[in-house]
Amino acid sequence: MIKRIGVMTSGGDSPGMNAAIRAIVRSALAQGLEVVAIEDGYKGMVEGRMWQMNSRSVSDIIIRGGTMLGTARLPEFTDRAVRSTAVRNLRENGVDAIVCIGGDGTYRGAMALTDMGINCIGIPGTIDNDVASSDYTIGFDTALNTVIQNIDKLRDTSSSHHRCSVVEVMGNHCGDLAVFAGLSCGAELIITPEKGYDEAAILAKLKHLDEVRKKRHAIVVISEKITDANALAKKISEVTSFSGRATVLGHIQRGGSPTAFDRVLATRMGDKAVELLINGVGGHCVGMLKNEIVSMPIAEALALPRKSRDELLALHERLI
Ligand code: F6P
Repeated sequence: MIKRIGVMTSGGDSPGMNAAIRAIVRSALAQGLEVVAIEDGYKGMVEGRMWQMNSRSVSDIIIRGGTMLGTARLPEFTDRAVRSTAVRNLRENGVDAIVCIGGDGTYRGAMALTDMGINCIGIPGTIDNDVASSDYTIGFDTALNTVIQNIDKLRDTSSSHHRCSVVEVMGNHCGDLAVFAGLSCGAELIITPEKGYDEAAILAKLKHLDEVRKKRHAIVVISEKITDANALAKKISEVTSFSGRATVLGHIQRGGSPTAFDRVLATRMGDKAVELLINGVGGHCVGMLKNEIVSMPIAEALALPRKSRDELLALHERLI
């Protein structure tokens, strides 16, 4: 029987992580467990930075973006010797099991720790929505709404000036933010890593929208890490009568108070993770599939193919 669990956030922060922490702490305390906060993800675990939480520790955080525990990336955690230090620190602090909130890198660490005798449960917390074992990750909806609010503003000014706005969004090799934002904003073009980058086709399409369809403005939503958004905007100015302007939304997408969707998702997932640990499960991750909170082994989750967005992209094409 476990007595004491740890909770940590790792990788890039995402809005709703705090709501998950709150649910984990309150759910565990309600079921007679003690909870230890681990600061700055695996880094704090290796450095032994942990402290005991109580119900008040998580007061007022459900509405806040970021993570009260801090987060970090620690590539060295793949090293067994580094993990052994973490396991020693956990044992010294009486931590029997952990809930790890983060993306796929966090999941790999959780799986490796479980293999070393500390049961871990992963919760998908990332704005990228790149975890295939869950329809949505915590933070994606909030980030998407931030993107939409910004693109709506760009539309006003683009339309007034006959401009083409090239808007670069985050996603770390996953096009979901671009696809969902493009659909929500009625963007003229959506460019994702999954679809690939065909500059000639992009310019030809914009030329058509400009010269044949006589569009007053055009919005191009592009995922990060594909091409230089400024260079693309410059080419658009050269080839069409739109003047191209690039906006890189950057880290603004990671902040802000979580939406209701993210708060509810995080709360349900946090509670499920505690239930799994109490039942002696380790090496699993929690997800939401068809509105049900489910769990599966992390190894299985990491092997799942990326969700296809072909249908959504085809729908987008039909509506331009
Ligand atoms: O994984 C979340 C994310 O925001 C990605 O979308 C982005 O590529 C990356 O993190 C940025 O990382 P950093 O905050 O380290 O610059």
